[in-house]
Amino acid sequence: MRSKREQWSSGIGFIMAAAGSAIGLGNLWKFPYVAGTSGGAVFLIIYIFFLVILGIPILLSEMAIGRFAGENAVDSCKKLSRKFGFVGALGIAGAFLVLASYGVVGGWVIKYIFKSFSGSGFGTDFFADYTAQPIEPILWTFVFIAINVIIVTGGIAKGIERVSTILLPVLLIFLIGIMIYCLTLPNAAQGVRYFIVPDLSKINSISDLSQIAINAMGQVFFSLSLGMGTLITYGSYLPKSTNLTSSTVTIVTLDTLIAVIAGFAIIPAVFSFGLEVTGGPGLIFQTLPVVFSNIKGGQFISALFFLLVLFAAVTSAISLLEVIVSWFSDKTGLSRKVSSVIAGGAAFLMCIFASLSFGVLSETTIFNMNFFDFLNFAADKIVMPIGGFFMCILVGHIWGIDAALEEISNSRKLKFRLKPLFSAAIKYIAPAMIIVIFISSFF
Ligand code: TRP
Repeated sequence: MRSKREQWSSGIGFIMAAAGSAIGLGNLWKFPYVAGTSGGAVFLIIYIFFLVILGIPILLSEMAIGRFAGENAVDSCKKLSRKFGFVGALGIAGAFLVLASYGVVGGWVIKYIFKSFSGSGFGTDFFADYTAQPIEPILWTFVFIAINVIIVTGGIAKGIERVSTILLPVLLIFLIGIMIYCLTLPNAAQGVRYFIVPDLSKINSISDLSQIAINAMGQVFFSLSLGMGTLITYGSYLPKSTNLTSSTVTIVTLDTLIAVIAGFAIIPAVFSFGLEVTGGPGLIFQTLPVVFSNIKGGQFISALFFLLVLFAAVTSAISLLEVIVSWFSDKTGLSRKVSSVIAGGAAFLMCIFASLSFGVLSETTIFNMNFFDFLNFAADKIVMPIGGFFMCILVGHIWGIDAALEEISNSRKLKFRLKPLFSAAIKYIAPAMIIVIFISSFF
């Protein structure tokens, strides 16, 4: 017989854990550079639009599935419909893919914390030279994965919840401090303008606009940890009394707040030194360190910044690992500890190849992408949209809006006023948009 399922110790603890999952590299690393390359303020507006019509309803649905079923991602989906176990299985596969690339970037972040103090500073070639090395990045990736395995081994309340409850407030407070500092740098106003005043001259065609829409939707899914069973798994540890709607709003607000704060810190800082924000993934690893090396006390700010990035990355990576561990230990009957080590080990193996794809394996490609890019492509462009699409179908058309709302309203103890909107979003709007954007992302 299965032992009683673990639970979060409090509603706040759950919110911290779920917001911790949402707030990650997606906010501090991806959001600023995607906003930077996708036209700044125009991107921000489209992002917020998708957040409201896709992000909130899907997040709420995933949590409702998890709490209703009280099982791991695969069994929860199966409980709603025997044929839909594949949605959960897709999520577990996706969690592996994301964790593999997350582990590599997490390893870089740890290296950057120590390197910040080294005094020699970051040369312009540091990022490319460092990531191309065969051994050292893999060692730091191992450290990153090991940290996650240890936390997940601690369990739901004593591991994941406790760590998130400590790290998230620290992240919020110090990031605000860094933002204020960056906003006082010379010429910061230019960066602020880029980020909040839409520059319509950047949009010359429908294809520019649809590219921004694809990026914005992908970013909403990634940033809120959607489509991969994360919120189903976290929801399954919730007591029946939690208010799912208000939790969703809090999680989405915190996630967006941190992304915007990161944008207000990084974009003005980069503008301040006349550097480009349109460079892509190297923004915080290549461009930002140049900024830090030019300001007084930059070493200290750099170390603090990367420490905060590490905190954000850990509270997200544990959620990815938990999706896998929860399923794996139910399936095999193995303990949480053994399951965590096995899942972490498997993820680490993938990380090795992903890390090497910046160096010795850079010429080895799958569909013209190196392994790291392929992982991101498979997760962001394939698994997340397909998982999200079928999640909407499952909730909107199979489980049914009424049944979902029964769960969301705690058996009608809570009022839920937005039924028509929620229903339209989950049944029609979200699936249609996902399909359109999924297809157009291939052209
Ligand atoms: N949301 C996290 C971030 O922004 C990453 C993440 C955690 C994630 N769990 C996920 C992404 C599940 C997709 C699916 O960095």
